Amino acid sequence: MNVFILGEKSGMATRRQFGAGLIAMTSTVGSAVAAQPPIRLTVYRTPACSCCKAWVSHLEKAGFAAKVVELDDLAAIKSRAGVPGVYESCHTALAEGYFIEGHVPAPDIRRLLSEKPDGRGLAVLGMPVGSPGMEVAGMAAEAFDTLLIASDGSTRLFARH
Ligand code: CU
Ligand code: CU
Repeated sequence: MNVFILGEKSGMATRRQFGAGLIAMTSTVGSAVAAQPPIRLTVYRTPACSCCKAWVSHLEKAGFAAKVVELDDLAAIKSRAGVPGVYESCHTALAEGYFIEGHVPAPDIRRLLSEKPDGRGLAVLGMPVGSPGMEVAGMAAEAFDTLLIASDGSTRLFARH
């Protein structure tokens, strides 16, 4: 009888401690997200492509507020934004006057918008396996570069991944 009561008491204590731990964890996560204001951007994508969708969820997980616009043809958006033909990828995002072309990682976009360098935007050439939205189960991530496209259309290295 004694053993039974002791067992139940320690069980309750454990549950209470576990509950307090969860509350502490939740409030820490909450304040970390609140500290960074969401970055707003508009993503233009074609309805059939799924890697763009995966890229948008990568952005949302990183605290971005993405407005998604589906269009059958992105050519007009890309040329208006000044994306050089060779860098055209499956989706184009626009934020604060810059374009973000292809599978650019969220931290690069955050850095672009805080440093505000002279230029048209960022691009990741091609669709590198392992870049955000291009993860393939069982395949190793490829190395890739994020490039800054200058106002004159020339490029420089912005980040290595
Ligand atoms: Cu893609
Ligand atoms: Cu895509």
